[in-house]
Amino acid sequence: MPQIERLFERNRAWADRLKETDPDYFRNLAERRKPEILWIGCADGRALADRVADLPPGEAFVHRNIANMVVPSDLNCLSVLQYAVEVLAVRHIVVCGHYGCGGVRAALAEPLRGPIDGWVDRIRLVRRLHRAELESLEGEARERRLCELNAIEQVRNVADTTIVRDAWAAGAGPDVHGWIYGIDDGLLRPLCVRNRDDDDLRIVRDPG
Ligand code: CO
Repeated sequence: MPQIERLFERNRAWADRLKETDPDYFRNLAERRKPEILWIGCADGRALADRVADLPPGEAFVHRNIANMVVPSDLNCLSVLQYAVEVLAVRHIVVCGHYGCGGVRAALAEPLRGPIDGWVDRIRLVRRLHRAELESLEGEARERRLCELNAIEQVRNVADTTIVRDAWAAGAGPDVHGWIYGIDDGLLRPLCVRNRDDDDLRIVRDPG
């Protein structure tokens, strides 16, 4: 684990390394065109969009919070969504959950103290919606399935916003994808997709 003061040294070494291979790297980045993807992911540092999808910097506009939630009263998330849809005109929105998510695990455990409990309540809502299926599973299988179901329900929440609905009604707007990432194997898997021509989301593949 790096000492906090060493991060400036590491930053300088990193910037120098990139400029060695491409002297215009940062200049080009500053002039880069609009991103095509809005990525909504978990705050967990092991599931970073550009790392796991091997995206060049600037390719995705990113919003992150605990357990990749899209909460209709969350001004932060909705502002990001509005900017991405109306100004950047992204072609895709990806809600990416991950296995081993601490927020999802918390929704299966005892209540927490403080504001985080109100946040985890939104994941408990997903748990309640899918109670029958989840109760047929145990332990890690239940937790993994709730990670998947949570990402899928957040795709629904994105599709239910007036921001996305208005864009779709105007004949534009992004496709919305639900994905899940395995911290333990480094792989991304598709879960579902919703686009403006479908009445409901389509399950792409049941990862089992
Ligand atoms: Co997480």
